[in-house]
Amino acid sequence: MIKISPSVLACDFTKLGEDALSVENAGAEMLHLDVMDGMFVPNISFGIPVIASLRKVSTMFFDVHLMINEPIRYIDDFYKAGADLITVHVEACEDPASTLRKIRSLGLKSGLSIKPGTPVSDIEKYLDLCDLVLVMSVEPGFGGQKFMPIATQKIKELKDLRDARKDLSYEIEVDGGINGETALLCKDAGVDILVAGSSVFGNPDRRAAIDQLR
Ligand code: DX5
Ligand code: ZN
Repeated sequence: MIKISPSVLACDFTKLGEDALSVENAGAEMLHLDVMDGMFVPNISFGIPVIASLRKVSTMFFDVHLMINEPIRYIDDFYKAGADLITVHVEACEDPASTLRKIRSLGLKSGLSIKPGTPVSDIEKYLDLCDLVLVMSVEPGFGGQKFMPIATQKIKELKDLRDARKDLSYEIEVDGGINGETALLCKDAGVDILVAGSSVFGNPDRRAAIDQLR
């Protein structure tokens, strides 16, 4: 079954705890936390203290998506804040392999992400260090954008690589513009986890939104 990771970027920040609980009760497997630094992406969201606060009220699996330059500097802090999985961008790391190893050394799951313009071939040499590969289906930085179909080809490519190589065991996650329609395209391509912001938090009936995606 496909897992759903609702992105709190689309929630009401005055009710962050309640909103997180609402998707947990509606059956979401993970909570997607988008951290932006205003440098790697042209937007600033939230960071370590917000995740640490949320950790006190939620037992969900925290899927932390770092859209920050040189994330290796902050892996320890996100670990202490309560991350379960940390995904970094290959485009933001001087040394992606060391960054992924650092994440794993703390006992966390490691994720590597590619922007729409980055081909799968750019991360091929790091795939054995990945517990997850995040395919961006929009330019990172903002919620509510339109899904870019190039993502489905990359999902398929990543699935084929995993099928072909015994040393690879990552899950494939897609992020950006996911709704009932685009979820189906990604499922057909072989995705394991769907990230969804607006389509989940924009619907007051969270269970209906999540069931529809699944
Ligand atoms: C974009 C973020 C996404 C975003 C998805 O940079 O990584 O997680 O919140 O939002 P929707 O589902 O609205 O496209
Ligand atoms: Zn994200």
